[in-house]
Amino acid sequence: QSSGFCGLQSDELIVDSFRLQQQIDELASFSDSSAPSVTRILYSEADVRARRYIKDLMDSSGLIVREDGVGNIFGRWEGSDSMAPAIATGSHTDAIPFSGKYDGVVGVLGAIEAINALNRTGFKPRRSLEVIMFTSEEPTRFGISCLGSRLLAGLPNMKSSLERVVDKDNISFPDAAAIAGYEFALETLLEVPLKEDTYAAFVELHIEQGPILEEEGIAIGIVTAIAAPASLKVDFRGDGGHAGAVLMPSRNDAGLAAAELALAVEKHVLETQSADTVGTTGVLELYPGAVNSIPSAAHIEIDIRDIDEQRRNSVIQHIKVSASEIATRRHVHLDFQIVTQDPPAASSQKIVKAIESASQQLGLTSKHMISRAYHDSLFMARVSPMGMIFIPCYRGYSHRPDEFASREDLSNGIKVLALSLLALSSD
Ligand code: GLV
Ligand code: MN
Ligand code: MN
Ligand code: MN
Repeated sequence: QSSGFCGLQSDELIVDSFRLQQQIDELASFSDSSAPSVTRILYSEADVRARRYIKDLMDSSGLIVREDGVGNIFGRWEGSDSMAPAIATGSHTDAIPFSGKYDGVVGVLGAIEAINALNRTGFKPRRSLEVIMFTSEEPTRFGISCLGSRLLAGLPNMKSSLERVVDKDNISFPDAAAIAGYEFALETLLEVPLKEDTYAAFVELHIEQGPILEEEGIAIGIVTAIAAPASLKVDFRGDGGHAGAVLMPSRNDAGLAAAELALAVEKHVLETQSADTVGTTGVLELYPGAVNSIPSAAHIEIDIRDIDEQRRNSVIQHIKVSASEIATRRHVHLDFQIVTQDPPAASSQKIVKAIESASQQLGLTSKHMISRAYHDSLFMARVSPMGMIFIPCYRGYSHRPDEFASREDLSNGIKVLALSLLALSSD
């Protein structure tokens, strides 16, 4: 018994990784691109089907399911002390265009399986346990990352942003939400933020999305901090015109302004001489997009991250200065918007310890690491002590179709999650 973990022998904990893999594969079939890639954008039909799938699974695992006005989904296992702040875990199931099956999904399906595994041992939680499926961790549709968890954390100005945003087809946020069955998404926004002390802990299981664990042959990554992300939207507008008839000196080509800015982003990032600073121009759209037409408009979206928030902010300032310098020199109109600019988050020591002990109890190697990707945990950290469990993924691939995590690694992660939830809920 002395090796027991809060009264549970670790070999009593059994994860059904075959069934989990079937679920991962089934969820991947709800997609707007063909296999092996997955595309599941906020409030699309594929997203709605994924939501239904998760709610059904929660329900068959005996969880009490509820959903808020924007579609954050909660499955609750009522603890014996139902008034005590609960322990939550979860992630997202939306997927960026042409990505893979594991990002986010592992933290939702894996959480449900962790609950099932605990349930099978006969364990009864003291604090209630909740699995959360967050709405739109990915910024694809409306440019706002971690939408559901941002709202849960009660970030200011969200209502006014959501009243204004439209997607690339000019569909507004409330219209998109209504199509997915969330008719009152804007009206109920005030009810979404979590009440104080709703959760005593939030733990997210996720694939690493980087190569370190696999390279070093380590089973579990214990996240100590999440790097600070930011995103920018820039539009340049010129006069366009005929690609043959307008001579070079008379042009103000919006596309070339955008191309220059993309290179300036890389330059400003490299100038920091810090390996921790990264910048990406992942969207570059030209209008009207015809080979024989000078681009009259260019839209670009830029992602900047760093573990050092000040340094990240100073890169953004440099990019902004370059954008106006380019616009002036090329005689194009500039619209520069900082869409999100979030601080980093630190994990709770107590949750780090719980994950460490759980890994030890299971005989799994682990190491502390920083998450350079962002997660809903970044925002949950504002309203709850937070921690994250990483598992290795093939070559560190993520946000691409060949993203992969082995059943063994998945199973390890789920066991560590289950034991961590057990310890935190008993505390
Ligand atoms: C979101 O998935 C991100 O980290 O970019
Ligand atoms: Mn992602
Ligand atoms: Mn993710
Ligand atoms: Mn992410």
